[in-house]
Amino acid sequence: MPDDPTPRVRRDVRSLLAEGAAGRAVLDDYARAITAMRALDVPGAAPTDPRSWGFQAAIHGRPGVRWKATDPKRWASCRHNSWFFLPWHRIYLLCFEQIVQSHLDDPTWSLPYWDWSVVGDDGAQTIPEPFRVPADAGANPLYTAERNDLLNAATNPRHIPFDDIDARPSLALGDFSLPSGEDPAASFGGGVVQDVVPVMQARGSVEGAPHGNVHGYVGGQSGWMSAFETAGLDPVFWLHHANVDRLWDVWTGLWGEGAVPTDPAWEDTTFSFFGPDGQPFSLRIAEVLDSEALGYRYESVEPPAGTLPDAPPGIRPAIAEVGPVPNPELMGAESDVSFAQRATVDIGLEPLAVPGVAGPGPAATPERWFVRVEDIAGEQPAVPAYSVFVNLPAGASPADHPELRAGTISAFGIREATAADNGAPGLTDVFDITAVVDHLRTTGWDGGALAVTIVPMGLDGEAADGGDVHAGRVSVYAG
Ligand code: C2O
Repeated sequence: MPDDPTPRVRRDVRSLLAEGAAGRAVLDDYARAITAMRALDVPGAAPTDPRSWGFQAAIHGRPGVRWKATDPKRWASCRHNSWFFLPWHRIYLLCFEQIVQSHLDDPTWSLPYWDWSVVGDDGAQTIPEPFRVPADAGANPLYTAERNDLLNAATNPRHIPFDDIDARPSLALGDFSLPSGEDPAASFGGGVVQDVVPVMQARGSVEGAPHGNVHGYVGGQSGWMSAFETAGLDPVFWLHHANVDRLWDVWTGLWGEGAVPTDPAWEDTTFSFFGPDGQPFSLRIAEVLDSEALGYRYESVEPPAGTLPDAPPGIRPAIAEVGPVPNPELMGAESDVSFAQRATVDIGLEPLAVPGVAGPGPAATPERWFVRVEDIAGEQPAVPAYSVFVNLPAGASPADHPELRAGTISAFGIREATAADNGAPGLTDVFDITAVVDHLRTTGWDGGALAVTIVPMGLDGEAADGGDVHAGRVSVYAG
């Protein structure tokens, strides 16, 4: 691995473009490498060369291929929905980047990132121009038609709705991971699991929204980015994941290098890929916690505006004061919720479950509130995202109530987690709603119940058809 004292810089794609010819050259090089990698694939045949485009994508997933621990090709091995999500993808990107470098014969080339986390700038949530224009896959290796047409348009492209990919609520969570199973609190990186079967059920906050919703919006109903088994075929996948990887560094900047798990079940887990020589290459998670030690850093690791305590309404000003989660207790739950249309479940709260916590009047401190949505399953999600609100008035528009927003359930991964052979009943997402409850206390809320509303969301806001997705249970915890 590189051990260069001056790390390479992974640049923001928009800052490269703003720079003119020198910046564009980084993308032209990427396009050239993609062409070389694709030339190693034989159309219609399974990829055989680890340095090829099709092989690299197949490591993430490939239609009809199931992960097998014994597969020397390591196909379909992406780790999702657990604390392995971030490190697996970090090593995947690093090996991919080295393969690109070797095709270019340029060890300084660095993967750019698509920073869709910028606040108040729709251009940031728009697919970067070189990936859309020219709209001709023959002439432009960065282009594919396998995306949502409206986002992929050469002129006047739509952008991903910011609220569905706001990275700030996940960055504000100080726990990298928490025990999965029954743990009701939300974490940044995903649930603790002991083994590394690819699809697990405890999705971390950064993995759902923002990460998953970028996949779902860019891929649309059936484009490459919308499914594990095709996502790596889209050239923009790699810039998207560079940004997810960067957000991990942003999080580390906020919470400290010591905030990651020290459990050997995590640190000592090794993931294996291929190096630029086509030979197997592995790294241990403990070896990849510091990007600079891996030879790269990001152009910026500033948190998005408003991540810190002066955050606007709807964003929990958590950074300064959050300590360990004080064992939240179940306050109430309802079963079997369909996401086919907007659905509201009224959850009666047990005021005495946590003395002093529920009820009207000033909040007992410290206290944190969570909504947990379990066993989210479905074979045909019809939208990229499902927004979750608390006490949204009947008929009110979600866009008008940021202060009541709990978060977003991403459709990306629901199909995979529903497949009968992965051993999980579906996904679990947990949202920190402490700021919403604080707000409700100022509006005369009596503490007796909370209404949780799930709203199917698309490019034009609330969607009429959410597909066949449903949740086994929706619960409220506090502590
Ligand atoms: Cu393994 Cu964004 O996907």
